Amino acid sequence: MEMARLHSKVSLVTGAASGIGRESAIRMATDGATIMCADLDMPGAENTANIIIQRGGLAAAIKLDVTSEQSVKDTIHRTAEQFGGLDIIFNNAGVAGGFDWDQSIAVNLTGVYYGLLHGAPFLADHGGGVIINTASVAGLVGLITPGTLDQANNLQPGAGAYVAAKHGVTGLTKQYAVTFGRRGVRVNAIAPGYIETPMTARVRESPEALEFLKELHPMGRLGQPEEIAAVASFLASDDASFITGVILPVDGGYTAR
Ligand SMILES: NC(=O)c1ccc[n+]([C@@H]2O[C@H](COP(=O)([O-])OP(=O)(O)OC[C@H]3O[C@@H](n4cnc5c(N)ncnc54)[C@H](O)[C@@H]3O)[C@@H](O)[C@H]2O)c1
Repeated sequence: MEMARLHSKVSLVTGAASGIGRESAIRMATDGATIMCADLDMPGAENTANIIIQRGGLAAAIKLDVTSEQSVKDTIHRTAEQFGGLDIIFNNAGVAGGFDWDQSIAVNLTGVYYGLLHGAPFLADHGGGVIINTASVAGLVGLITPGTLDQANNLQPGAGAYVAAKHGVTGLTKQYAVTFGRRGVRVNAIAPGYIETPMTARVRESPEALEFLKELHPMGRLGQPEEIAAVASFLASDDASFITGVILPVDGGYTAR
């Protein structure tokens, strides 16, 4: 019998209190990894760790603000100290498109940058590892929201920042993959379509808006966080041993049109 594919691996998941991060923490734990659940929302991160522990896995929670370089650096070092190593970093924390330019860039782009800046050399110096970033279809194409195609409208302020930040994440992913390719660190990104998480709860409220969003995906539905978690766990595993520098859409066909 094969061992669980993430057996004996240690994984740091940011944004682990909610949505994609929570489900990915749970999935990676199910696949054998020990998880550090990191989030600005400490009670939420503790909840995720408790879910994992209740199911027989290994996990702990830590408070992290990805907009603080020191906080990211400390979290990486403390995770490795507490669990005796670090193999996987999932730079997943993010905020939705409603935020202003500076805040969206700070969390969605600079936060991922700090994870790469401190994470990639750390993994390289400690036997190699894997970094996964959460980009978005907004890291590959422009966003279409109900107002976007109405040429009388101006771009929603938050949408431009979100698209710029996520395109930045896809660029950083490629650059770090290239730079660390020979040092045993694989770096990839997932580009989710619209996923049913707390982040999209507001835009899904009106039935018309929900229908509009479903129509953007050729599969005719939104995604579930478990469907991103499964891909994150795959990319973290040796099943993806020759995959690096890839931006993998997990989007029900959103970017195929
Ligand atoms: N839900 C979608 O449709 C969708 C689509 C594409 C990409 N994404 C991306 O997926 C990632 C996860 O989103 P989600 O849908 O699970 O959202 P979510 O709101 O459910 O979870 C995001 C988590 O990030 C945490 N966070 C926010 N700012 C932080 C900070 N400064 N430091 C540490 N943690 C912070 C929040 O506390 C929250 O727990 C984000 O990067 C998001 O941009 C989501």
